[in-house]
Amino acid sequence: MRQTICSTRFWWNGSLILLRVGGTLAVAGSAAAQTADVTFARDVAPILQQKCEACHRTGQMAPMSLTTYAEVRPWARAIRSKVAAGDMPPWHMDKTTGIQQFVNDISLSTDQRDTILRWVDAGAPLGNRADLPPAMAWPEGERWRVGDLLGREPDLLVSSTPWTQPAEGQDQWWQPVVDSGNTEDRWIKAVEVRPTLEGRRIVHHGNSALAEFAVGKAGEIYPADTGRLFEAGETVSFDIHYHSVGEEITDYLTIGVWFYPKDVVPKYAVRHSAMGVFQAMDTFDLPPHTLTTHQAFVPLEKPTRILSYQPHMHVRGKAMSMEAIYPDGRIEMLSHVDHFNFNWHVNYVYADDVAPLLPAGTMIKLTAWHDNTAGNRANPDPTQWVGWGQRSYDDMYHAHVRFIELTEDDYVTMVREREQASITEGDQ
Ligand code: HEC
Repeated sequence: MRQTICSTRFWWNGSLILLRVGGTLAVAGSAAAQTADVTFARDVAPILQQKCEACHRTGQMAPMSLTTYAEVRPWARAIRSKVAAGDMPPWHMDKTTGIQQFVNDISLSTDQRDTILRWVDAGAPLGNRADLPPAMAWPEGERWRVGDLLGREPDLLVSSTPWTQPAEGQDQWWQPVVDSGNTEDRWIKAVEVRPTLEGRRIVHHGNSALAEFAVGKAGEIYPADTGRLFEAGETVSFDIHYHSVGEEITDYLTIGVWFYPKDVVPKYAVRHSAMGVFQAMDTFDLPPHTLTTHQAFVPLEKPTRILSYQPHMHVRGKAMSMEAIYPDGRIEMLSHVDHFNFNWHVNYVYADDVAPLLPAGTMIKLTAWHDNTAGNRANPDPTQWVGWGQRSYDDMYHAHVRFIELTEDDYVTMVREREQASITEGDQ
């Protein structure tokens, strides 16, 4: 603990003013007063292992490895700014509103975040080497993470046409359409996408009509009795974002597909909608030097359970929220991605017991914010008038939403089960 000889603080026009008379400046009870204790070895290394190494280690897509003190120390300042801004780990959800439990949450807890910031502020000390956790044992070679969870290899593999990304050059969006080789109608239980080992360094993310690849993501396993029909002869279209890393690399993505047994037809079919896209095409307009808000409304004709939410915008996109307007007029914030980043297409997959359960007649309200000013560092040209379009310097907005439609009876049962579960929790 640092000692304060004399420090006084008071509020003036909403800002904190510190007066210091001699001695070391310290603010009682604030982060600065607690920094001395935080060390890399004991406090920070375990967090980086758990939350950063999946991408920040040799051979993965992040630009630098963060597995040892020697590797991390030169990046301390950059880590502080990315962590403080909520840019890293890439999880861009507003944590102060809406649903907060997701099956694929890779974000830092408030404690973890504060620990990292306090450590950098204290001069990023190593501490006692004896406190270092053992190095992580990352799986070698290619593994299907869904396969590990389900205990078996995929039933079908579908690969994209290879792409060679030059050593230097612009980012590429590669969109091959391939034959799936699927010969009969089957219901999908789970999917996972992975690039080649080499390719992991150049793939930012890849979407396909079936599944999506994002580092840190263990594929998708649908909930019980829920699946997606994969028809015989169906083609698969990919949309892959490649970036250059100073060396020519050739890559393709492979989708692993796990089916339900042949005689099983799951009760619920997973549906996908690019919600808001038609309203956006009609009304989208981004004048130069302005911040804009656009809204789209999508009625749900049947009771619906939403499985996942993935906002989509281009370089001027800043934030997108999804609210439910219930038939009785009540409005609920479901999710708000408040610091959207076009480089990251994060799909937020709701945990089973909090996934939105919405009655027929609910209106989904999407609100998208775009920043076409010079204040947006991702903006290539704030003097341009931007319209809806596919190129990344045009812009757009919609939300990829996966959902299942329910019968009235199922809806009532599910709502009752949740109420029951929350009463039971309250009892404990
Ligand atoms: C899902 C993969 C992933 C995870 C998890 C992740 N990063 Fe990153 N990180 C990246 C990629 C890719 C980049 C480069 C592109 C970008 O900045 O978006 C990056 C960039 C960075 C940068 C900026 C580097 C520069 O060149 O200025 C910092 C700092 C950083 N990450 C720190 C962290 C820390 C600290 C964590 C954990 C708390 C973390 N990242 C977790 C993938 C990841």
